Amino acid sequence: MAPDCPDCGGTGFRVRSTPEGFTTAARCDCSYREQAARMLKSARIPPRYDHCLLETFEGQEDSHREAIQIAGDWVERWPDLEFNHSLLFHGSPGIGKTHLAIGIIRQLAGQKGARVLFYEQRALLKKLQGTFDPGSAIRESHILAPIQAADILVLDDLGAGRTSEWARDVLHEIITHRYDHRKSMIITTNCALGEDDDEDAGDNAVPGVLGSLSLRQRLGDALMSRLYEMCRFVRLEGDDYRKGVINQRIRRA
Ligand SMILES: Nc1ncnc2c1ncn2[C@@H]1O[C@H](COP(=O)(O)OP(=O)(O)OP(=O)(O)O)[C@@H](O)[C@H]1O
Ligand SMILES: [Mg+2]
Ligand SMILES: [Zn+2]
Repeated sequence: MAPDCPDCGGTGFRVRSTPEGFTTAARCDCSYREQAARMLKSARIPPRYDHCLLETFEGQEDSHREAIQIAGDWVERWPDLEFNHSLLFHGSPGIGKTHLAIGIIRQLAGQKGARVLFYEQRALLKKLQGTFDPGSAIRESHILAPIQAADILVLDDLGAGRTSEWARDVLHEIITHRYDHRKSMIITTNCALGEDDDEDAGDNAVPGVLGSLSLRQRLGDALMSRLYEMCRFVRLEGDDYRKGVINQRIRRA
């Protein structure tokens, strides 16, 4: 807690009187701030996403504005989410999926003290693979334990790269554990979902991701089924922000 907090006077609690004459005390946001700063340091968010906050996400397209609305609403209701206790952002590359996921976990760490963790899928699989090296000092369980313990796990770029049998099993274990324990995830993917079974290329094809396998093909029906139950699927549309806006800013500078 902050000794000079204007909301609670440094007590860490905000005391309010209800119209019925009762006095209520709620934990003040400032008591979470220090804890959040520490936690965010260990949340493994890559420095290139330092600027990613919900407030810095621009709503240029309808789907962007809708996504901000959904994200804000989810943040407000978390953790009291009976349905859709997870979110899945999908759409083509550079459209802001990871930005939104990180904006959400930053806000929830700061406002509600959520223990958050970020993993890009390929980096996670590589790290787990590294534990198989005979000389490795880190065991698989050292990596999986915090993943299971986190209140909110961001699994970024799900379905990226080659999905081997082993990779599929690992992802199955991680996602199913969170499903079984009703723990939140925020997933991002630029794979087509593959809703219309094997011939998914048509309507679900993501522009710019030619000939790629759908998420369903990569993860299998059992895992997709769990994702449909856990997640609110949020589709983002529009142009690649990296190519457009950011590039123009650099050229203008
Ligand atoms: N609507 C937006 N407002 C502000 N910045 C944005 C927006 N969309 C994207 N960006 C910025 O563009 C860059 C790329 O966004 P991001 O990494 O979130 O894309 P992505 O959809 O996750 O792409 P990929 O599928 O390649 O991982 C980031 O620097 C992000 O901050
Ligand atoms: Mg991304
Ligand atoms: Zn305070």
